Amino acid sequence: MQPIRVQTTPFDDQKPGTSGLRKQVRVFQQPHYLENFVQSIFDTQALAGATLVLGGDGRYHNRQAIQTILRMAAANGVARCLVGQGGILSTPATSCVIRRRRTAGGIILSASHNPGGPDGDFGIKFNTANGGPAPEGVTGAIYARSREIDHYLTLDTPDVELDRIHQFTLGGMRVEIIDPVADYAELMAAQFDFEAIRALLAGGFRMAFDAMHAVTGPYARRILEQQLGAPEGTVRNGEPLEDFGGGHPDPNLAHAAELVALTRGPEGLDFAAASDGDGDRNMILGRDIFVTPSDSLAILAANATVFPPWREGIPGVARSMPTSQAVDRVAARLGIACYETPTGWKFFGNLLDAGRIAFCGEESFGTGSSHVREKDGLWAVLAWLNLLAVRRQPVRELVRAHWAEYGRNYYSRHDYEAVDKAAAEALMADLRARLPDLAGTRLAGRVIRLADDFSYTDPIDGSVAERQGIRILFEDGARIVFRLSGTGTVGATLRLYLESLETDPTAQCQDPQQALAELIAAADELAGIRRHTGRERPDVIT
Ligand code: G1P
Ligand code: ZN
Repeated sequence: MQPIRVQTTPFDDQKPGTSGLRKQVRVFQQPHYLENFVQSIFDTQALAGATLVLGGDGRYHNRQAIQTILRMAAANGVARCLVGQGGILSTPATSCVIRRRRTAGGIILSASHNPGGPDGDFGIKFNTANGGPAPEGVTGAIYARSREIDHYLTLDTPDVELDRIHQFTLGGMRVEIIDPVADYAELMAAQFDFEAIRALLAGGFRMAFDAMHAVTGPYARRILEQQLGAPEGTVRNGEPLEDFGGGHPDPNLAHAAELVALTRGPEGLDFAAASDGDGDRNMILGRDIFVTPSDSLAILAANATVFPPWREGIPGVARSMPTSQAVDRVAARLGIACYETPTGWKFFGNLLDAGRIAFCGEESFGTGSSHVREKDGLWAVLAWLNLLAVRRQPVRELVRAHWAEYGRNYYSRHDYEAVDKAAAEALMADLRARLPDLAGTRLAGRVIRLADDFSYTDPIDGSVAERQGIRILFEDGARIVFRLSGTGTVGATLRLYLESLETDPTAQCQDPQQALAELIAAADELAGIRRHTGRERPDVIT
């Protein structure tokens, strides 16, 4: 079958952000929009003759995009394509399939935790052969190509059947519709002590998992309910829906309020967790406690030897720059390496590939390990279940014991969403200009130790990422960080990250917003957030 050559012209907004190209569905529905980006992948990555993995989080436009990409893959000479049944593959499961089946890479269709549906968002990203998000060099090449593209290749074929597990050829390409859960479930069984978790769940431990009508429903049902014996109904909102049931598939205190309520009070569940649209984020709750993602990373690292692959200990850990420094103290105590990377999971890739780190995480509800090259929501949930199965302690006790031993990092992120882009950029530019004069001065009753715009040199390949966020570090361990989001789709999103360190175990019961009040006021004083954005308060506090 001869490929069809379709003339096209570049779009000027196809620069991938923190996690791929993410836009409103209606932007993706423009003729040639998706096609241009996909052809730019085929034009810059050596995929002819190779195997590609393809799937998404099931949101609106997922199925249609898969049909388009399959035709284009075949027309571009891809030899074989593995597609999740129903077009479904969570982000960590895609990473898992790429690695286990040694494919050349994969294409993930998702806008993560952003709302879906015709008025929601859509997204696409390319993952390389290590299973991880494409590094800057690759995304840069794809973007550069999208700026000069003049045609794409496709086939004139009818839609293919995605809902049945079967194999067929499309043009000259082999297509295999695969079980989206099987490879991933096997991998999980190798990471954790399933016997211990089964015993925990059989012993009256009460839990809930909220899939938020997004991609993790089928994964959680198979693993938690079928394999680990959690009672049916443990997985809530387990049916993936194109609009996520109208919800916002972002597991945090604001968007998973119903789940949080189930854990409150003496009758509250022992444990509850949720994952996001594409299954890479996680939220961990115990009775009357929310475990911040930064604390979760630190606690998992401190207890790494309970997990079968890490019985002998872990080589190191990494966190994104804005993530709290709780894990740093664990690493120091264990005498292992601790890396601080820019925001975005791709920066962990080289460290994981080189075996320098075992666990890594981001404050934005991302936690994971070297088992795949994406953050992994269900991995974090299973890790907590494994930990609780061994410790046999309520979550709250376990977390408090950790704070008593290592100190507590009060932490919060304030998001100002859909801010005028120019205003947000002006705020950052003003602040940047004043950085050289800040060290040694006082703010919020503290002395500033260092103020800079974070820059990272990858210790493996030497690549440099600059301007990754403004850090104000205080001598007492507190921090204020300012960053502009790379995933928003409307205007600019200003993120303000606040952190302070409390080492007195008797003083540890305050609300983080209260504990951070001075720093919050200082951040506004320093950057003029209200003045620049016209906003009185943040839109989302996590
Ligand atoms: C956000 C998070 C970041 C995460 C990314 C993808 O990016 O802050 O940690 O890696 O989503 O899930 P941002 O919008 O801040 O650029
Ligand atoms: Zn996600």
